[in-house]
Amino acid sequence: MKQKAGWILPNLKEAQKRTKKETERINSYIIPENARFIGINHSYFISTYGCQANERDSETLAGIMDSLGFSKVEDVEKADVILINTCAIRENAMEKVLGEIGNFKRLYRQNPDLVIGVCGCMAQEEGFVDRLLEKYPQVRLLFGTHNLQELPSMLYSVMYEKQRVVRIYSREGEVYENLPVHRFGKHKAWVNIMYGCDKFCTYCIVPYTRGKQRSRYMDEILAEVRELKEQGYKEITLLGQNVNAYGKDIDDQYDFATLLEKVAQIGVPRIRFTTSHPWDFSDEMLDVIGKYENIMPFIHLPLQSGDSKILKLMGRRYSQEEYISLYNKIIERIPNVAVSTDIIVGFPNESDEQFQHTLDVVNYCKFDNAFTFIFSPRPGTPASRMEDSISLETKKARLALLNKTWNGYALEKNKAYIGKTVTVLVDGFSKKNQMVFSGYTETNKLVNFTGNHIQPGDFVEVYIDDAKTFSLDGHAIEK
Ligand code: SAH
Ligand code: SF4
Ligand code: F3S
Repeated sequence: MKQKAGWILPNLKEAQKRTKKETERINSYIIPENARFIGINHSYFISTYGCQANERDSETLAGIMDSLGFSKVEDVEKADVILINTCAIRENAMEKVLGEIGNFKRLYRQNPDLVIGVCGCMAQEEGFVDRLLEKYPQVRLLFGTHNLQELPSMLYSVMYEKQRVVRIYSREGEVYENLPVHRFGKHKAWVNIMYGCDKFCTYCIVPYTRGKQRSRYMDEILAEVRELKEQGYKEITLLGQNVNAYGKDIDDQYDFATLLEKVAQIGVPRIRFTTSHPWDFSDEMLDVIGKYENIMPFIHLPLQSGDSKILKLMGRRYSQEEYISLYNKIIERIPNVAVSTDIIVGFPNESDEQFQHTLDVVNYCKFDNAFTFIFSPRPGTPASRMEDSISLETKKARLALLNKTWNGYALEKNKAYIGKTVTVLVDGFSKKNQMVFSGYTETNKLVNFTGNHIQPGDFVEVYIDDAKTFSLDGHAIEK
């Protein structure tokens, strides 16, 4: 691949670096003179992969596009600008994105003015960017996770100067406040409380794609939550790769328990947060969660492995015993709490016995839900350089057994809801049947139910008639 003047390409070495430099905070969003109104009579389509942080970034991208006069479309065929916000967490995420970009080639042939832009975590990866630049001429714009705010000037260059723009910074990052936002949900909203990650789990690419941990100031977060409440939002989710470490990069006055309590006091009906790394889970957090009714009794507590030696190799900084004692504390202190988890099988050289330790923890904790993955070596991570004697076949067999095991417990947990009444925040109609509504319980269980005069955003009391592995069925109780 030939590097062109003006291109800024990702650099893994830079992305891995951490310095003591204080985080810069930028409060203004300025649209360059020439880029104002470039969206008038043009439309955009956004496709989002990955985690909630990416979903929230897409809402910022949409907000910026709106501020330039573009209108959002749901049909990609009608778009003048397509933005693909990508995820790099596992290899198969990458393959999916390349498939989608390949599909858009046809649209580009029909309309050479079409702008296809690729951004997000995969754009931070050297190898991926090389491949895109070489093999996918239809991609006219490439930018990363650190410069969403430059979208207006980048689009101007692509649309009016007919340039191919590549601007990817590999740095620790800043905190941008006051960027425009176009929220995709009317009743549920995401609120970033921090960016980046400094945990450097040995398998994980996020600390390189997202930069260092940068917490937002508490006042900024609280102001956003207040505004959401005024706008009528019923549920907010506080977002961070590791929310429990919130504030540690600012000073000792800042911690997640304090933030959570202040957020709860604002009075949005439902508050959630994700993700909680077991390492930083404090007793104060449990006190606050237990004290406020509007903090939902649901904890996503990634286990990753149930074997202490593998956990050590992963850099997770807790042992099997420590995880279990934290789990016990959570279920004792938060009544009717539901706990979900993430698990990786087939970490390099994981033995049958070590995998069995993961199953042991699953058998003990009986998780309500789990996201399970086969280890995927990510470029630049320490785990990708570890030798691995375990075949893919073995890993697949382990994943299947793990899924069978947790599915059994999830069904058992769900069955305990039969005959009970739960409060559901309604999302909308079931896709299959317009007489059937769907929404989530406080414990984050999906419920499909029948009823009359129900609107999205309503809280409805639902009697549970039946349970499946991934959802509950019921009927609304008429008032
Ligand atoms: N910050 C969160 C995790 C974010 S990534 C935490 O620390 O818990 C979401 C999940 O993807 C992780 O919990 C992990 O289970 C999985 N994951 C991350 N890197 C992976 C890799 N290289 N291979 C397979 N799964 C991975
Ligand atoms: Fe990745 Fe670990 Fe950070 Fe989670 S805490 S994002 S798994 S490095
Ligand atoms: Fe994926 Fe980036 Fe999120 S790698 S999981 S989109 S932080």
